[in-house]
Amino acid sequence: MTEVYRIHSPQSDNSAILRAAETLRRGGLVAFPTETVYGLGANALDAAAVSRIFAAKGRPTINPLIVHVARVEKARELASEWPEAAERLAERFWPGPLTLVLPKRRIVPEIVAAGAATVGLRIPAHPVARALLEAAEVPVAAPSANRSNEISPTTAEHVRKSLGDAVSVLLDGGPTPGGLESTVLDLSSDRPRLLRPGLIAPAEIEALIGPIDRAPTVARDSHQPQRSPGQLPRHYAPRAAMECRAIAGRARVEQLAHEGIRVGWLALGGDDRPIPGVTTIAMPTSSADYAAQLYSALHMLDDVGVERIIVDLPPDTDEWLAIRDRLWRGSVQ
Ligand code: TXA
Ligand code: MG
Repeated sequence: MTEVYRIHSPQSDNSAILRAAETLRRGGLVAFPTETVYGLGANALDAAAVSRIFAAKGRPTINPLIVHVARVEKARELASEWPEAAERLAERFWPGPLTLVLPKRRIVPEIVAAGAATVGLRIPAHPVARALLEAAEVPVAAPSANRSNEISPTTAEHVRKSLGDAVSVLLDGGPTPGGLESTVLDLSSDRPRLLRPGLIAPAEIEALIGPIDRAPTVARDSHQPQRSPGQLPRHYAPRAAMECRAIAGRARVEQLAHEGIRVGWLALGGDDRPIPGVTTIAMPTSSADYAAQLYSALHMLDDVGVERIIVDLPPDTDEWLAIRDRLWRGSVQ
């Protein structure tokens, strides 16, 4: 049975935080909120504990995990190099939704790095995550707290439904504010490279450290070599087949509904009057609000049991990059 604790504030619910921290130190799995999505954590220095994450998620062992720490000094203890770019980015964006990939020290077990010579590091900003990391006193490896290839969880309920009793302790801190996974930036080779777009936009990074290589998204080119399994097509996907429409989403929805198909529609900024038999969700026109609501909208459509999801595609601008990336991945068959 999973122990579930509702955390209103880390101070008033300190005993639950201490319980979760102790569970981590003993090799158990703890799900916790971050400012992006819920994570499924284990002591990153304990290979046996980390292997339980892979088992619980059904995650391929070729996919490395992000290690979460409470402070910059702790991150530096896990990286064998700490370039100027890391220093600047950490100072500006940590705590926050940015993961830096750096050469790892030997202390980081192979299983965390999926056999690579690097480690992904981040300091999350969510108060519950920070309190947990402080109390645990160990670095915490944590992928998103969902079965592999499913949609990431933005509520404790999503975690419970996806992972069931595989989690020892679940800290319920309410819905996560950001709603999309962190930006992953590789600093381990000569030129910084964006491995996964996220809540921090490439332009914000470039303003600080100069030009970076922007990873092609699935939409632009699916034939590039994959540096990060999060870049694999067909990731972050709902159960229903999803279709992105740059134009005429409504007409497509009407056509499918007419054919008797149960349709869910993520409508954006146009005519979203209800269509009989269609589950319509009017999505926010601000990218930050859209990001915060996207996964819960997809979870909801899965729960309703629609057969097809039609998405009005947001504009092709930097601001919407991470959202478009997840929408395209979710729609790859
Ligand atoms: O916002 C987030 O990043 C959330 C929260 C829980 O922190 N975590 C998350 O973890 O999304 P996960 O495992 O679902 O995605 C981690 C991504 C994957 O695409 C993985 O391949 C990549 O980061 N990654 C991790 N370590 C890496 C490394 N050493 N080299 C290259 N890519 C790495
Ligand atoms: Mg994930």
